[in-house]
Amino acid sequence: MPGVLRRADECRLSRVRMFLTLTRIRWGLKSMDQISSQDVREIELSLIVPTFNERENIIPLLERIESALYGISWELIIVDDNSPDGTSDQVRDIARRDRRIRAVQRIGRRGLSSAVVEGMLTSSACVIGVMDADMQHDEAILPQLWKAVARGECDLAVGSRYVQGGGMGEWDQKRQSISRGATWLASLVLKTHISDPMSGFFVVSRRAFEASLPRLSMIGFKILVDLAASAPQPLKVLEVPYEFRTRSFGESKLDSAVVWEYLVLLADKLFGHIVPVRFVLFVAVGALGLLVHLAALGLALNLLHLTFLLAQSVAVLVAMTFNFTVNNFFTYRDRRRTGISFIYGLISFYLVCLVGAVANVGVGIYIYDAQITWWLAGVAGAIVGAVWNYAVSSVFTWKK
Ligand code: GDD
Ligand code: MN
Repeated sequence: MPGVLRRADECRLSRVRMFLTLTRIRWGLKSMDQISSQDVREIELSLIVPTFNERENIIPLLERIESALYGISWELIIVDDNSPDGTSDQVRDIARRDRRIRAVQRIGRRGLSSAVVEGMLTSSACVIGVMDADMQHDEAILPQLWKAVARGECDLAVGSRYVQGGGMGEWDQKRQSISRGATWLASLVLKTHISDPMSGFFVVSRRAFEASLPRLSMIGFKILVDLAASAPQPLKVLEVPYEFRTRSFGESKLDSAVVWEYLVLLADKLFGHIVPVRFVLFVAVGALGLLVHLAALGLALNLLHLTFLLAQSVAVLVAMTFNFTVNNFFTYRDRRRTGISFIYGLISFYLVCLVGAVANVGVGIYIYDAQITWWLAGVAGAIVGAVWNYAVSSVFTWKK
């Protein structure tokens, strides 16, 4: 790992250099605008801003960053998920004239957390910040967050609404309760106490980010929870209060999916290293599907008076359709099929399950023939069928 060590040393060295510069400024030996190009040559802060439909916010945001980060050498990386409103174009228009700014345009992908991680990976600064584009985060505390990490006082500095001096702004009671509930749930997976782990406003050292990187789930909206829960050692955290502001342009992307994705993230952090969360969901949906199957069979036999063969076939079809629909909505929400693609997905799911059923019965018979108890043979067949259905449908039905 010599490369990693060297990088850590470089970061330490640049911290020392930065410390000297800040000390000189503090002692009046140098004013902020006298900092020579030698001092600010390197990028001291990479600020990552994830965007989706934030075109109107880009210029005002830039103006605020420019004045808040005066004296710090920064770069701004905007990671845009191909917003229909042309956010990426807007950023590139500015970036052509200002080399501190860059747009990363992701095609065919969505997600705040994964966007932030990609932005971090395109930067090479020792200190990385994350902030929203809609100016709800108070950029005035950015230098404070940056300084704490740049000086090595902490690994992670968080802009917090819940420490003394911070505030929720104009949030209604319902959203406040959801946020508090989510914050409480986060304590199940966090290794260090963070009073506002839902915050999307923080500064982290590259070293801490790289240490968490291999274990990141990158699911959903809550990158800070992911980052802190994935750290191999508890992070040293500092929190700085700020008042959450109201959005002036554009709209929030918060919807019920965000809550669902948050729960999936927590599950992944809790037991994802033992068994994939998707598999657990898939099996749970399968168990529900069994109930649906029995209900459909009962109806077909007793109400429609079909023959058993016909009734059982109808029940299989109903259960498979149910499983596909529910998995499509929850288990594979991020790769959800809609419109005509839903129909193609359903057909491919039928085919996958058909082969799965053959494998299920085959394995069952094989074990049963080996004189092993009937229920063990049945369970073994079901497990093989479930694993097959899960593995193959993840590749064919819900391919990335
Ligand atoms: N690239 C990308 N992809 N960016 C996204 C996506 C996405 O799928 N969804 C949202 N964003 C961007 C938005 O454009 C915005 O810059 C930022 O992420 C936050 O999204 P908002 O929709 O404004 O979130 P919010 O105001 O509801 O939530 C805020 O408060 C939370 C505190 O509970 C955000 O600051 C969160 O980060 C914060 O955790
Ligand atoms: Mn917002």
